[in-house]
Amino acid sequence: MGSPMNRNFLDLLEVKMVVKFKLISACCENMGIGKNCDLPWRLKSEMAYFSKMTTDTVDKNKKNVVVLGKRSWDCIPDKYKPLPDRINFVLTTTKNLDLSEFKDTYVFNTWEEIVKKLEEENFKHQYEQVWICGGSKIYEDAMNSKYFYRLYLTRIKKNFDCDTFSLNWWTI
Ligand SMILES: NC(=O)c1ccc[n+]([C@@H]2O[C@H](COP(=O)([O-])OP(=O)(O)OC[C@H]3O[C@@H](n4cnc5c(N)ncnc54)[C@H](OP(=O)(O)O)[C@@H]3O)[C@@H](O)[C@H]2O)c1
Repeated sequence: MGSPMNRNFLDLLEVKMVVKFKLISACCENMGIGKNCDLPWRLKSEMAYFSKMTTDTVDKNKKNVVVLGKRSWDCIPDKYKPLPDRINFVLTTTKNLDLSEFKDTYVFNTWEEIVKKLEEENFKHQYEQVWICGGSKIYEDAMNSKYFYRLYLTRIKKNFDCDTFSLNWWTI
């Protein structure tokens, strides 16, 4: 926790910034986040934490936006898609990818398109927070973007065999 002065400054920033990216990730000691299109671990409490953090809103008339890379989206079993009670944004370079069968799901080809949507007059009153949910390139882009606001990192204090890795959060 920061000092009261830092806290006030952050609150002020929160009010001033319209679009803010909150990154949420779970990462093991060797910086792994994924294995075989899945999480490398089975941790029910971590899944529940992710779900609660990305779903909860203060204003119950609003939902949160979750931003996922196309591979992370593909890796979610169909029965869990879209992530429920959230507005799902999927980022892909594929033009005209049709995910219209999924409720509350939008496809974007660039971050600029995502920000444009988030700033749209009709849309900006529908959501509360923007959660950046991975994978690796998505985290990196969001972390380096001017919209980056906070990182919510679950540190899994063990090494796992992984094929997908995040930035080295510990040295940032
Ligand atoms: N531990 C965690 O917190 C966590 C969180 C999320 C995911 N995961 C795991 O991570 C793995 C998936 O992550 P990943 O890193 O392989 O893939 P990813 O980041 O989810 O998806 C990569 C894809 O996203 C699209 N993309 C990325 N940057 C883009 C940009 N700037 N513009 C347009 N499209 C862009 C591209 O899709 P196209 O190829 O379609 O163009 C790219 O191939 C899985 O194992 C998953 O379970 C773990």
